[in-house]
Amino acid sequence: DFTPTRDDRFSFGFWTVGWQGVDVFGGAVRPPLDPVEAVHRLSDLGAWGITFHDDDVSDFGTSTAQRLEQLAPFRRALEETGLVVPMVTTNLFSHGVFRDGGFTNNDRDVRRYAISKVADAIDLAVELGATTFVAWGGREGAESGAAKDVRAALDRYKEAFDLLGDYVVEQDYDIRFAIEPKPNEPRGDILLPTIGHALAFINELERPELVGLNPEVGHEEMAGLNYAHGIAQALWHGKLFHLDLNGQTGPRYDQDLRFGAGNARGAFWTVDTVETGGYDGPRHFDFKPPRTEDMDGVWASAAGCMRNYLVLKEKSRAFRADPEVQAALEASRLDQLATPTLAEGEGLAALRAEAFDPDEAAARGMGFEHLDQLALEHLYGIR
Ligand code: GCO
Ligand code: MN
Ligand code: MN
Ligand code: MN
Repeated sequence: DFTPTRDDRFSFGFWTVGWQGVDVFGGAVRPPLDPVEAVHRLSDLGAWGITFHDDDVSDFGTSTAQRLEQLAPFRRALEETGLVVPMVTTNLFSHGVFRDGGFTNNDRDVRRYAISKVADAIDLAVELGATTFVAWGGREGAESGAAKDVRAALDRYKEAFDLLGDYVVEQDYDIRFAIEPKPNEPRGDILLPTIGHALAFINELERPELVGLNPEVGHEEMAGLNYAHGIAQALWHGKLFHLDLNGQTGPRYDQDLRFGAGNARGAFWTVDTVETGGYDGPRHFDFKPPRTEDMDGVWASAAGCMRNYLVLKEKSRAFRADPEVQAALEASRLDQLATPTLAEGEGLAALRAEAFDPDEAAARGMGFEHLDQLALEHLYGIR
């Protein structure tokens, strides 16, 4: 069956099940959720971990020492259930002080404050055993042209990561940063809008080995991009440090649907890539149970994320194991793609000297439609 266990390493942001439904058109529709209850409910559902923003678990402005004191019941619940905290992040977006962002705010004093808030949250993260620190710069961006000098803003963005990288090395902390790209919302245009932009940025940092990605399904799809291809490239660069799994239906507002809802075909290839591409981090869900739901609906939505993942994992396994699929993969020459274009010891000259008939090659079909039909038939449940 599709019952999650700890071995599946499913984790949830506290802010997902804890979301009270506040949006731009209306206020809360659900009561506040106690983090202690969230730990117990998620544990009962079969989750393995819980993550949070500094300000999810105590008020904005609380010192790390006070936060740790307030977290005592939460940590007891973790001990009782065995749930872990694999990742922590900072809220650099809710308070009005971050109206123009944190690390790239035009105001220098705000940037200094933002960096110190993140350093505090890193101390907290390490105290709770987290090894990944997510950086979602949702307010880093602009709605207008001259208001943001993008090159200067990227200098400041780099300065912040370089400083924080030095900090974790000096402290000997076992933690890495994962940048979460998003194209827009809440800013009109957010800096580091896609996986590709973020990868290029990371290469400019002083300690690139400490910084990777936390790509979110919906964010890449909001930009019209293929999420499975995006995480495959991140894996190729050794940069897939963490994941935000959820659902989205095309380029529209950030829907944060439960995983597997929205673009179901995309979800199939996502799970296939996560399971076969060498990713070994948490399977983290960042979704928002729709505002239509009461708390029962919230837990149904959370359970649905994990169940859909396991269903798609089984479908991906069955797809790969199907002899007809294996034959179709061969007919589509996937084995050739995996073979280097030059043979051992060969140079460009060998290839240029080769007799080749482009018309003969142009007459070959690739067989991709048959292969993709087999994938869809697995997904549709008739194979
Ligand atoms: C979004 C983002 C956020 C971040 C989270 C971590 O919906 O735009 O995904 O949920 O992941 O705030 O900082
Ligand atoms: Mn969102
Ligand atoms: Mn989102
Ligand atoms: Mn996210």
